[in-house]
Amino acid sequence: MIPIARPLIGEDEQNAVLDVMASGMVAQGPRVKEFESRFAEMCGAEHGIATTSGTSALHVALLAHEIGPGHEVLTSPFSFIASANCALFVGAKPVFVDIEPDYFTIDPEKIREKITPRTRAIEPVHLYGQACDMVAILEIADEYDLVIIEDACQAHGAKFNDQSVGSFGTACFSFYPTKNITTGEGGMITTNDANIAEKARLVRDHGSPVRYQHESLGYNLRMNDMQAAIGLTQLPKLDQWNKKRQENAAYLTQELSKVEGVVPPAIRENAVHVFHQYTIRIPNRDEAVEKLREKGVGVGVHYPTPIHQQPYYQKLGYSDSLPQSEAASREVLSLPVHPSLSQDDLDQIVEAVASL
Ligand SMILES: Cc1ncc(COP(=O)(O)O)c(C=O)c1O
Repeated sequence: MIPIARPLIGEDEQNAVLDVMASGMVAQGPRVKEFESRFAEMCGAEHGIATTSGTSALHVALLAHEIGPGHEVLTSPFSFIASANCALFVGAKPVFVDIEPDYFTIDPEKIREKITPRTRAIEPVHLYGQACDMVAILEIADEYDLVIIEDACQAHGAKFNDQSVGSFGTACFSFYPTKNITTGEGGMITTNDANIAEKARLVRDHGSPVRYQHESLGYNLRMNDMQAAIGLTQLPKLDQWNKKRQENAAYLTQELSKVEGVVPPAIRENAVHVFHQYTIRIPNRDEAVEKLREKGVGVGVHYPTPIHQQPYYQKLGYSDSLPQSEAASREVLSLPVHPSLSQDDLDQIVEAVASL
């Protein structure tokens, strides 16, 4: 089976972890600090704050911006559940805006109609490795004085108008093993706002600027040095791995454009797409999933149920109609695009899709 994802963890990563273990300093320490500054630099941001996961990065980011009860956060329903749950964690309300059908990301044209006096933030999700239309989104945020929290959990290295995601607002990344780079589990907040960075560091570590002095309510959401050591080893490889993902995607698109009924992913003008996922639209999606797996192609569905239709959100009373997200959930199918695919793998994928 050609896997849908394949974390690249080799001797470099193993040695880096062994070094940390040998040092005896295995909790948050110098490696975390170095990973934070190198990762922030890659994004063109001034500050990096490492956390335990992308989910905790989003949670900490919202708390650092003092988003809480009575506030609304505008986001996409066509995403992983954490994109919306982070608003619930802090007592705020996620409000869903439908997506642009070509790019699967929040539709800026539909943001304005969802803004109320309670709206505090827009949380664009750079889904599948493609940046949202940040020019349009920043313009709206400016007009209504809203905070931008980028969910860049799938978009390490992605760009829009030559600017890296992670530098448009306060941004959150995930280092889960399937992501373009990993730390096992882990997350990162990036920001150019020193005040937000300081607050995020406090939330991450018991509200404690100095040991055993606690100035605000905080949690333990710290990354450890073994995770950061893996991240430091992976980070210099990100460009090369993203390039391979882009080449794989270009080949798949060239070949799959010839297959009737299949809609390959579109790349936004002025965007650098890093293809965390290569996601097509296809008729009879569920049947295609079964058949492709039978043919040895590991596929995924990201995501089969939009967030507003998840059982928990239904219990909360969400009854929105968001037709583009609902249609995407029925039609999307992700094919392997990761850097370890061979030309034979790519040809097998194309052949399997063409013969459906
Ligand atoms: C868009 C998006 N947001 C948030 C997350 C949460 O990240 P993590 O799994 O590291 O908590 C993910 C991870 O899959 C994601 O894809």
